[in-house]
Amino acid sequence: MVIPFGPLKGKDAQVKRGCDCEALKIVKEEQQEAKKARLKRIFEENSFINPSLKEATFENFESNEFRQALQKAKRYVEEFDLKNPKNLFFQGSFGTGKSHLSMSIAKALTEKGYTTIFISTPKLLTKIRNTYNKESGISEEQIINAIADADLVVFDDIGAEGEISGWGMQKLFEVIDQRAGKHNIYTTNLSSIEFEASKDL
Ligand SMILES: Nc1ncnc2c1ncn2[C@@H]1O[C@H](COP(=O)(O)OP(=O)(O)OP(=O)(O)O)[C@@H](O)[C@H]1O
Ligand SMILES: [Mg+2]
Repeated sequence: MVIPFGPLKGKDAQVKRGCDCEALKIVKEEQQEAKKARLKRIFEENSFINPSLKEATFENFESNEFRQALQKAKRYVEEFDLKNPKNLFFQGSFGTGKSHLSMSIAKALTEKGYTTIFISTPKLLTKIRNTYNKESGISEEQIINAIADADLVVFDDIGAEGEISGWGMQKLFEVIDQRAGKHNIYTTNLSSIEFEASKDL
């Protein structure tokens, strides 16, 4: 796009009413790119992702047992709308594909241009704790702001052993609180009873 400076004359002159939608679109895209770069810097690739999940997609999800979960996940992507935020909660025993499906959703939305973060919740807490180290090149605030900023955050393995107590629980509430009114996905292999009990710790 050419952005002319100074008055245009003759056939080049254009009168536009209302907003310049094309320019606005470009500004929006640039903002989105800046947001992505920020997220990439903080959540450097792979630091939060189990290597076996890197290849996860809807296409390579075997849905025999969990057809409904796959359908819900796909619908979540189709209906994704920043103005109508929705949360998904995947609960089930280990190795059943909860992280696989969540990762597939995050990838599909990234392809659509949204900013997404997939984080192992225990690793997130470790990363925040590490910022308390003087040598840390990143602050707790930067991490929390980046999470607050993303269009979608997957909190993978929430309630995993070792984090549901004192500081970890408090920090997690703080992070999740920042995500109110936004799109979030949670996965856990705790049963409902265990999950409820963990809140009282
Ligand atoms: N239905 C499936 N189709 C294809 N691959 C699968 C399926 N279920 C699991 N996998 C693969 O098995 C591995 C473990 O799955 P995943 O990490 O998604 O399980 P999970 O339900 O999140 O388990 P956990 O509760 O231990 O976190 C991953 O590499 C994933 O890609
Ligand atoms: Mg998992």
